[in-house]
Formats: sequence, C-alpha cells, structure tokens
Amino acid sequence: MFRSKRIVRAMIGVLIAFGITACSSQTNDELLEEENSDLVVIGFSQPGAESAWRVALTDSVKENFTEERGYKLIYKDGRSKQDNQIKDIRTFIQQGVDYIIISPIVETGWDTVLSEAKDAGIPVIICDRNVVVGNENLYTAFVGSDFKTEGESAVLRLENILEQQEDEDGQINIVHIQGTLGSSAQIGRTKAIEEAVEEHQDWNIVSQDCGEFTKAKGREIMAQVLEEIGAENIDVVYCENDEEAYGAISAMNEAGISYGENGGIKVVSFDAMNSALVLCMNGQISVEAECNPLQGPYIYNLVSRLERGNAVPKITYVHEECFVSDDLTPEIIEKRRF
Ligand code: AHR
Repeated sequence: MFRSKRIVRAMIGVLIAFGITACSSQTNDELLEEENSDLVVIGFSQPGAESAWRVALTDSVKENFTEERGYKLIYKDGRSKQDNQIKDIRTFIQQGVDYIIISPIVETGWDTVLSEAKDAGIPVIICDRNVVVGNENLYTAFVGSDFKTEGESAVLRLENILEQQEDEDGQINIVHIQGTLGSSAQIGRTKAIEEAVEEHQDWNIVSQDCGEFTKAKGREIMAQVLEEIGAENIDVVYCENDEEAYGAISAMNEAGISYGENGGIKVVSFDAMNSALVLCMNGQISVEAECNPLQGPYIYNLVSRLERGNAVPKITYVHEECFVSDDLTPEIIEKRRF
C-alpha cells in the first residue's frame, strides 16, 4: 500500500519536473516529494529539547532512519507545547508522509489528530511516553519506557539504602520534584513514590512541585525548599530526571548542604545519563533508574516489519536497569552510549 503511494508521489514529481501539471509553480511539499520519491518518508515529532536525554533520543532515531537505508526523516521540535506538536503532525499528514513517529509531551488530547492520521492511512508509532486515547487502534504501536516499573525499581533501591542507616527522628522526609505534569514519565514515576509513601508509615512527602524535567526548575525548587523547610528536615530528594537532579545538587552545593552516601540528603534520579552515573558511582547520587533513549533501533525494526507487510507488537518496552554506586565502575560507564 505504501509502496504504491510512493510510486504515485514519484509520478507527480516527474509530471512536475516536465511542467505537465496545471500549476505554474511547485510548493515546498511538492519539491520534497519529488526529491524523496524513492525514500520512505517519516515524520518525527518530539515535544522539545528539555534534556540531554531527549537529544539522545532524537539522535538515536536520526541515526537509524538514514537515506542510505532508504528513509527520509523530517524532524520537528514542539518547543514544549502540545499545540505545536499537533500542528507538526497535521503538517506531516498534509505532506503525505509514510509513517509518523510521535513522542507525546502529555498522555491525553491526541484523539482528534490521531484520527486524522488514521483517515489519511498513515501508520503512527508512539515512542518514549505513551498516549491515552478512546480507541487504541488510532496508533499502530508503542515503543518506550515502563515508567511505573522505573519508579518501583528506584524505590526498592532507596528502601535498601535507608534500611542500612539509622534516622535520628525515625521519619523519612522526601522532597519530590516532578517532571512535566501529565506526561507518562511523570505519572509513572510519581505513582511509584506515592504508593511507597502509603506503604511506609514513616515516609512523608514534605514538598511536591513540578520541575518540568529541567535543571533550572530543579535548582529553583530545591533552593526554595532548603530555605523553607531546612536541610535538617529533608532525608531524600526524589527527582524525576537527571536534569532536575543536577539542579537540586547545584542548589545544595550553593547552600553548602551535604548529600549522598557519606551522610546527608539522598538523591534519587531517573535517566542514568553517563554524567549522572559518574555522580552515582562517586556516591553523590544514591539511586539512578535508567530511562533508555536508544529507541531508534526498536522503532526501525517495527517500521521495517511494517514495510514488509508483517504484523508488529502493540507494545514494546525498551530494556532498562537501575543502579546504585556498587553496581558501577568507570569501565561500565564508558561502554554506555548515552
Ligand atoms: O520521557 C522521558 C523523560 O523525558 C526523561 O526522563 C527526561 O529526561 C525527558 O525529558
């Protein structure tokens, strides 16, 4: 089906090239079609570039869908707004791309635009974060993280660390810096820590605020919390990604507060980017739950199977681990690609 669509596009390109069409000038979209008539065209919509993790995801997708392999990737950055992502997806539909890949900023609000893609016969692959839609047939497949499991793994490692230390007042006070509200990364990781707090009578969330997955917000929130609550009343800062953890650590450094495995506030973080793993190996970050951005090969595999007319699984979770200092060596970190 998609092959024949490409042949039609190629013919349009040839007609345009010989001036046989009624139009006096070519639009950008027509030029794009003409240039790439034999390539499989993929529209890739990212929510923004808020973190080094997201840049790693973008690179992974770009590295896999190359012209040498027969693909043309059109990349769009939604600049942290769902409305921009929806506009970008509508542009892909108008351009008649062969596939659309979406990393959705939040879970809800996609039904209409996904219906439009479905009506246009364009398969959609959701990656990284998931969507919640009325009809799951609106997209072909999901590839990404199981954020609740990431959170549960982090909580388990935190429990082990806390069990090994005596807390003076017998209470574990947690500062919770959340990611973009409504994103599946925030929802899953938040659920895990909130459930753990319900299970442990001595665990308390003393502050909960949205850090938008950025270093600047993480730093701002932590600085304010240190001032309002005081470091002596904080045992853990649970940051929903590495950028927020870097920000929280900057705020603690600036305030001269000790943190990490040698005493002081325990830092829990998600992503496990190499620079954060170095901090974890050195005991400054206590727990690092991996969020794997190398999703390009998984998505490539799905698209190749669809191109051959094969069925694909609806859900593919990427491989992820969780680390504490003892799990890490410089060699292990060096071998990793992000
Ligand atoms: O959806 C994945 C999350 O989004 C990553 O944890 C974070 O760094 C990114 O911005």
